[in-house]
Amino acid sequence: AQASTLFRRNYCKMDDKIALDAAKSAAAQAAVDQWVTEDTKVVGVGSGSTIVFAVERLAERVWKEGALADMICVPSSYQARKLILDHNLTLGDLDRNPKIDVYIDGADEVDSHMVLIKGGGGCLMQEKIVASCAKTVIIIADYTKKSLRLGEQWCKGIPIEIAPMAHVPVKLKIEALFGGEASLRIALKKAGPIVTDNGNFLLDWKFLAKREYNWDEVNRAISMIPGVLETGLFVDMASKCYFGMADGSVKTQN
Ligand code: 5RP
Repeated sequence: AQASTLFRRNYCKMDDKIALDAAKSAAAQAAVDQWVTEDTKVVGVGSGSTIVFAVERLAERVWKEGALADMICVPSSYQARKLILDHNLTLGDLDRNPKIDVYIDGADEVDSHMVLIKGGGGCLMQEKIVASCAKTVIIIADYTKKSLRLGEQWCKGIPIEIAPMAHVPVKLKIEALFGGEASLRIALKKAGPIVTDNGNFLLDWKFLAKREYNWDEVNRAISMIPGVLETGLFVDMASKCYFGMADGSVKTQN
């Protein structure tokens, strides 16, 4: 009986993953096909599991369809850089390509005003830097990321990148200013704090889901705390979001 329960549990999880992957792939394909054209010279590449489908689609366009010959891809993380190289796409950087035509990335949660929580994978700082250099920021996500209010979906909180020496004072200041609880992100098996691509630590701030926050103000106030390097709150950055739905369709939000 125990074996069959385990089998059923794993089978369901596998089913969920297949459905979510199909939704991510549909969103990624729709966004790439709409936003990356022969006129697109520089594409910013986000991080996470959804962006993998976007890079696969870009590679298909280049290598199977013979399109996008001049496209340069600027990565937002070590993972994105590796994805670009693994797919034999042209790797750029902000020194040579500081003006990006379109930045495509996933998100952990998107509210009805297009405020995003990002940084579930810990890449928020480089993601925000690359996104800030783009004319257009396009978000791709599966249907579980769509919310009316932040906090509906994402129970792990808002990621905040901090200087390692400041993690205790920053935590205390955020909690005093806005309530909730900010915890240092710890590696699996308690192997110590997670270290970002930039050599920093992360706090995950579980805000008070029932409180009304002005996210622009919260973002500015947290960014001003000494030791805070970047927040995972992306306010007024995204132009359009593509959500892959459970039925295979893609819904957009502006
Ligand atoms: C990484 C990110 C990701 O874009 C975000 O976590 C979404 O990831 P996924 O596509 O795996 O759901 O911000 O720092």
